[in-house]
Amino acid sequence: MKRIYLLAAISCSLLVISCKNNPDFNYYYYTPEEQALLSQYLNLPAIPADYTVVLPKYLTFSSFGFSQPPEPAKIELGRVLFYDKNLSKDGKISCASCHQQSLAFGDNAAVSKGVFDRAGERNSIALSSVPSFSAAYENTGNSLFWDNRAQTVQEQSRASLQNVKEMDMSMSEVVDAVNNQPYYALLFKKAFNETVASEALVTDAIQSFVHTLSSLRSKFDETAEAKFLENTVNFNFISENFAGLTAQENKGKTLYLNNCASCHTATVIAPSVQSASNGLDEYPADPGVGGITNFALDMGTFKVPALRNVGLTAPYMHDGRFQTLEQVVEHYSTGIKPHNNLHKDLQNTNGTPKKMNFNTQDKEALIAFLRSLSDEKMTQDKRFANPFK
Ligand code: HEC
Ligand code: HEC
Repeated sequence: MKRIYLLAAISCSLLVISCKNNPDFNYYYYTPEEQALLSQYLNLPAIPADYTVVLPKYLTFSSFGFSQPPEPAKIELGRVLFYDKNLSKDGKISCASCHQQSLAFGDNAAVSKGVFDRAGERNSIALSSVPSFSAAYENTGNSLFWDNRAQTVQEQSRASLQNVKEMDMSMSEVVDAVNNQPYYALLFKKAFNETVASEALVTDAIQSFVHTLSSLRSKFDETAEAKFLENTVNFNFISENFAGLTAQENKGKTLYLNNCASCHTATVIAPSVQSASNGLDEYPADPGVGGITNFALDMGTFKVPALRNVGLTAPYMHDGRFQTLEQVVEHYSTGIKPHNNLHKDLQNTNGTPKKMNFNTQDKEALIAFLRSLSDEKMTQDKRFANPFK
């Protein structure tokens, strides 16, 4: 009996697929009228893109807490909202102004500028500094922002939309701005079966898009995958050279693993340390996490950023003080300052700041390795691109 149902189910779904492909059946995701309306404003595919994530094989075996993205219609709506400047006070700023796809969803200003050219206080965080945004932050206990003050993208989005130096809207103004655009009733209908936007649905859709951002095709990933396929049982990306990396990049990988990976895991999920002081200042101007918690142990500590795509996300640090990776490496080599909360991995046994004292070849190797973490496929992926005409 069960088998018959199964067969029936299979033939029905085959029918649906063939209907989609056969113009005689008149299957449209959007009717021609809907398509005409949308196409006045937006370049959207005829049906929402497939956002299924294909993990590089070396990550499929690990405890990579990963779930596939939500329904494509929700993500597509989130993409439109993410790029929509109507959601800002002066009509000139969207999330994407400070989170640009070509820059791994970061920006190139030391501190980002929001509405009316108002300068903020901190450097934009590249949303593609992690392999998968949802895997890095959903249910992992990892928090958002340089001072870890938000727990979810919904919470973070409300903060960005309302921040006077970012988009400077109240949430009811955001909802009105959305309901005033002619293209949203249809997109909300497709995503949520609702034609009127609400705060919860707007932030849910934005979160769906941000969670879907994934960066998994860097040179590093491809060479790690090749290494994994050579020997899936004893795969160890820590101790072995990868054939696909140059000798210099492999040398940089070893230096990275010995000096940096205890805080920044480049590969798997999110950084291994939530927040730390890396000795930028003896007297930090910005209290960082301490400004939120008021704990002495948190003063002057900041989120440990993940380093995927770090070659694309200059300038660096919470205040964008370093223009180049050379300056960053020089900081760790000779420039770490004493601080009460300086992380122990950056101290000598007597408590003084460590000097890693890299020589020129070490520095170049480390930087070459960091550049192998850039994923140019992600920066050109049309599914994440600006949909506005
Ligand atoms: C004016 C520039 C600007 C705009 C507009 C902006 N952001 Fe940001 N974003 C930043 C900056 C700067 C930070 C880091 C701020 C901090 O830590 O205090 C940040 C942090 C974030 C983070 C935290 C990332 C992490 O790994 O901790 C997320 C997620 C994010 N933004 C998404 C968005 C979304 C979604 C929007 C639109 C609703 C948006 N941003 C609008 C500049 C901006
Ligand atoms: C003790 C933990 C720790 C270690 C070890 C460490 N870092 Fe960091 N790193 C941090 C923290 C914390 C920040 C953010 C600091 C800030 O902005 O105030 C940071 C920031 C960075 C940034 C800036 C990223 C961005 O998006 O702005 C780079 C690049 C970086 N580190 C590279 C390295 C390299 C290379 C090494 C090894 C030579 C290293 N780090 C070792 C904790 C660490």
